[in-house]
Amino acid sequence: MNITRNALAMAGVCAVVGLGITTRAQQPPPPAPKPAPASDAAPAGGTVAVAKLSPTTGSTVRGEVTFTQTEKGVQVVGSLTGMHMGEHGFHIHEKGDCSAPDGASAGGHFNPTTQPHAARDAAARHVGDLGNLKADPYGMARANFVDEKISLTGPNSIIGRAVIVHEKADDYTTQPTGNAGGRQACGVIEAKK
Ligand code: CU
Ligand code: ZN
Repeated sequence: MNITRNALAMAGVCAVVGLGITTRAQQPPPPAPKPAPASDAAPAGGTVAVAKLSPTTGSTVRGEVTFTQTEKGVQVVGSLTGMHMGEHGFHIHEKGDCSAPDGASAGGHFNPTTQPHAARDAAARHVGDLGNLKADPYGMARANFVDEKISLTGPNSIIGRAVIVHEKADDYTTQPTGNAGGRQACGVIEAKK
């Protein structure tokens, strides 16, 4: 009698366990933990930065440049309007200050490694030397390249500095400016929240 009762009890336990397993198997798998928001996961300085460029006095050049840290360097994607057709010097300048009407408040080319002015693909150059942008007949120019010298963190960080678009082409030779003429647009580089 006791054995029978125990057997029945065991059967009951097994049935409950079995039901439990069956029920669990029918439920959808638990959701994967959500990744932390990018703003929390990003290292100091962030992994994306944006500069909104406004025209200096007498200029119509404006646009936006986005900087994204990748494994190969910083991807630079930009779009500008209101330019004269042709090439225009495109640099990171050392101070994130676009307050002067002519953009002079942004200072000189960002040059933390004390190198000569040069083209973007030169081995030795200012970190801020990003070459030229080429405007089409409609006055529009785009940038889309990856640069290995600029960074969004560390000593070569461009956060808090300024993007400048110039009146003329950078000749990659004249020191220390590339003889690119006046500053037509300026924008402070800010880490994206
Ligand atoms: Cu410049
Ligand atoms: Zn330079």
